[in-house]
Amino acid sequence: MAILEILKYPEPVLSRVAPPVNNITGDTVKLLNDMLDTMYAAPGIGLAAPQLGISQRVIVLDVNHENPHKQVYKLINPVISRAEGSVIWEEGCLSVVDFTAEVRRAARVEVTAFDENEKEIKIEADGLFAVALQHEIDHIDGKLFIDRISRLKRDLYTRRRKKMLRTGVVPPADNARILI
Ligand code: NI
Repeated sequence: MAILEILKYPEPVLSRVAPPVNNITGDTVKLLNDMLDTMYAAPGIGLAAPQLGISQRVIVLDVNHENPHKQVYKLINPVISRAEGSVIWEEGCLSVVDFTAEVRRAARVEVTAFDENEKEIKIEADGLFAVALQHEIDHIDGKLFIDRISRLKRDLYTRRRKKMLRTGVVPPADNARILI
């Protein structure tokens, strides 16, 4: 178990499509556990392997942030097998410093994935859980939530982020926010 560094936009690995996991090994199990530790420490309710610089289709989630460790999902090669309806949610991301925005997503999704025991599982989700699943699956497809907002808003953020990196002045973390 280890807490790893979460990479921030614009790290190139965050924009790369991650290849699927072909063999679930002890390394995969260790990665899933390290991802959970890192997610809880952040704190966040979801994390994808590319955020740790590991380009693999692996995500973890625990959206019940008031009762952590009760509803833990460790998903390998997750795929959205059904999507219905539409919802707008204010999203933030552990890899996007100091920015949130409203994003339109499917309101309900069914996700098929493998767990760490190579068992195929099917998950039905709505509300925050559905949003978080779509947000994490975006991560393994090399997409951030800022790729789903207007170009104007994204450009404003990109400029602000460049200034942060240039000046070294990063606003303090707002722990009241739920980050996906
Ligand atoms: Ni994220």
